[in-house]
Amino acid sequence: MSVVYADLNLARTREPKAESPPPLSPDTCRCPRWHRLALKFGCAGLILLVLSVIGLGVLVLSLLQKLSVQEISTDVQKNRTNPTDSSAKCPQDWLSHRDKCFHVSRASNTWEEGLADCDGKGATLLLIQDQEELRFIQNSTRGEDNSFWIGLNYTSTDKNWKWINGSTLNSDVVKINGDSTKGSCAAISRGKAVSESCVSDNRWICQKELKRETTCNDS
Ligand SMILES: *[C@@H]1O[C@H](CO)[C@@H](O)[C@H](O)[C@H]1NC(C)=O
Ligand SMILES: *[C@@H]1O[C@H](CO)[C@@H](O)[C@H](O)[C@H]1NC(C)=O
Ligand SMILES: *[C@@H]1O[C@H](CO)[C@@H](O)[C@H](O)[C@H]1NC(C)=O
Ligand SMILES: *[C@@H]1O[C@H](CO)[C@@H](O)[C@H](O)[C@H]1NC(C)=O
Repeated sequence: MSVVYADLNLARTREPKAESPPPLSPDTCRCPRWHRLALKFGCAGLILLVLSVIGLGVLVLSLLQKLSVQEISTDVQKNRTNPTDSSAKCPQDWLSHRDKCFHVSRASNTWEEGLADCDGKGATLLLIQDQEELRFIQNSTRGEDNSFWIGLNYTSTDKNWKWINGSTLNSDVVKINGDSTKGSCAAISRGKAVSESCVSDNRWICQKELKRETTCNDS
């Protein structure tokens, strides 16, 4: 402690001695004109610099804000111009396969009631497009003891199986097991397409086709 104190004292007492210049005349103390001018300009420059830095900061901030606003609005636009993103998805509880959605009913009812139920869902009874889709349906209903109505019934006037879209059944795609008689409707049972009385109680499968906005059939 005492050493430090002494040192400080020494420094203090020594300082003026070491730097004590001879008393200056007022003339020599005054800086030259250019020096004072330079100082003023320097000061002004410094203030300008500080101001411009602040200005730049504000500019950058507002630019960033604008950018983020634009980003959000482009996001919104993207969401608006891309409604297919949401409509290209199947509703909850619906199975999705290729560009179709499928719903398997829990309840059992007649073929006509199944038809009406699908209609109420904005769907139709299942129309089996090809073997691949049949396989998907077979797999999806595998292990179920029930039969599931599909959109196919026997029209006695034509003596033919007809899809509910009006097309006649192509037996290369689906083969119906069982008698084809008046009042027969088709169901999927244990992986097979079977003929059953339209008034029996079965569960049923509805389908919905996913709308693709790009499919413009102008040709
Ligand atoms: C756009 O939609 C996606 C999901 O599809 C969502 O995560 C995002 O928040 C939406 N953006 C805006 C700005 O609504
Ligand atoms: C009706 O559905 C069947 C089975 O999916 C299909 O083969 C046929 O092309 C469809 N007909 C029309 C006119 O869409
Ligand atoms: C069959 O269905 C099961 C679920 O029920 C699924 O995990 C599997 O991928 C399906 N297989 C085929 C070939 O569709
Ligand atoms: C078969 O389906 C058609 C509609 O596709 C319907 O008009 C007809 O009544 C149905 N037949 C029976 C027996 O339910």
